[in-house]
Amino acid sequence: MKILTIIPTYNEIDALPTTIDRLRAAVPHSDVLIVDDNSPDGTGELAEEMSAADSAIHVLHRTQKNGLGGAYIAGFGWGLERDYDAFVELDADGSHQPEQLPDLLAKIDEADLVIGSRWVSGGSVVNWPLHREVISRAGSFYSRTMLGLKVRDITAGFRVFRRSTLEDIDLNSIESVGYGFQVDMTFRVARQGKTIAEVPITFVERTLGESKMSGGIVLEAMTNVTKWGLAARAETLRKRFSG
Ligand code: GDD
Ligand code: MN
Repeated sequence: MKILTIIPTYNEIDALPTTIDRLRAAVPHSDVLIVDDNSPDGTGELAEEMSAADSAIHVLHRTQKNGLGGAYIAGFGWGLERDYDAFVELDADGSHQPEQLPDLLAKIDEADLVIGSRWVSGGSVVNWPLHREVISRAGSFYSRTMLGLKVRDITAGFRVFRRSTLEDIDLNSIESVGYGFQVDMTFRVARQGKTIAEVPITFVERTLGESKMSGGIVLEAMTNVTKWGLAARAETLRKRFSG
């Protein structure tokens, strides 16, 4: 199986080298695609140097900070033009431990989407401030209820998609800019009746660099989840009354 691990970066110059080293050691047969949004701190140049030293590492440069969703969609597009069978999402900052990626990959034969989950039995977060845990748990709960999904960690960013799962999604129609992109993808996969597996992970808060999480990202996700949830309900009613 040919695997592509996509790592979105914005100002991750301090954290990225260790993450790449750990990933190359833990899953040496995975190619790597760094998607950098013209980071002012020089992450893009560093990525180029790493790519020059290791033929499995590739870099995609975007012109400006355009959100996590856009970075992943660009990365998926790059990989789908090539012959990869599985696509991994991984944060650059060390929060997703590359050593746990084999646990996720072990399930991709059985599921169309595998999610590294903090909120299933055996999953956890280390050093996360209380407000982040509250936002994440509440966000997952609201999305799960509103969208009628069973997934516990809906905004999780440590994932493996089968190639066919991405091929069956119209990536151009995804409007989510921020981390709500993860909810959007989960909802679309579930609506197609595909299987989603959650594997427990230990999410370790970063020690280098800064989170790009913002109030705007939370607001976008909540607004979209509400909109999608209401639209899905309206459709159910329409079907019921149109006979
Ligand atoms: N290219 C690009 N463009 N990369 C970005 C952008 C962007 O606009 N915004 C964030 N990133 C990258 C970061 O550089 C990092 O590698 C990764 O995306 C995650 O960003 P963080 O800012 O570290 O996210 P977090 O730790 O606050 O949030 C985590 O939890 C979220 C909610 O569950 C992540 O795992 C998210 O993926 C997850 O949705
Ligand atoms: Mn992070």
